[in-house]
Amino acid sequence: MTAPAHLAATRTAYDSVAALYAELVGNVESNPPVDRAMLAAFAELAGPAGPVADLGCGPGHLTAHLAALGCAAFGVDLSPAMIELARAAHPRLRFDEGSMTALDLADGSVGGVLSWYSTIHTPPEGLPEVLAELHRVLAPGGHLLIGFFGSDEPSVLPFDHKVTTAYRWPLDRFAALLDDAGFAEAARMSRAPVDGERPLPHGRILARKPV
Ligand SMILES: C[S@@+](CC[C@H](N)C(=O)[O-])C[C@H]1O[C@@H](n2cnc3c(N)ncnc32)[C@H](O)[C@@H]1O
Repeated sequence: MTAPAHLAATRTAYDSVAALYAELVGNVESNPPVDRAMLAAFAELAGPAGPVADLGCGPGHLTAHLAALGCAAFGVDLSPAMIELARAAHPRLRFDEGSMTALDLADGSVGGVLSWYSTIHTPPEGLPEVLAELHRVLAPGGHLLIGFFGSDEPSVLPFDHKVTTAYRWPLDRFAALLDDAGFAEAARMSRAPVDGERPLPHGRILARKPV
């Protein structure tokens, strides 16, 4: 699938499930305590450095969580239906339609980037382009927190995600791509699935754009 075709398919898929997604997953408690601890660490590190972009924000619950933690947070999502829900749920926050492949943000204009499961549908060959874009918009010294489906297998594998095809990544492989994109890794975590989650590990990497 070409990049524009893949983006169009992802947009259509999330538009069609947006309300259900918001109802089932659109709350910060759907992320277990260890994830919330990592989100809190990210907010503490990124917040003072400037605006924090929640890229692939879905219905905006984590944008609002980051705002409650003191960040000047705003959200961006590919799906117009998600952006509509986010604006309705959090009318005081800014939400923009857009794609992580070409963000309408100036170079070095944000102090933090959260990408929480928003690269999971990006075909592996497209991920370097997305990470380059995240690196471009982040200010030197700014932090990136990225969450994704992990894998104990050595290779990147597609799987049947409920919304549309997603990919699971060995933590080391994802970390290597971040390194290639110019990020310095600060911390990583693999957590086991909790009750109700599919039987896959979950990868989290906190990284910094060097000064
Ligand atoms: C699995 S949901 C995660 C939503 C939210 N971050 C959360 O943790 O619940 C993936 C989201 O990423 C968005 N997305 C996927 N590809 C994107 C892209 N290239 N640019 C912006 N958003 C994207 C989708 O529209 C969807 O809302």
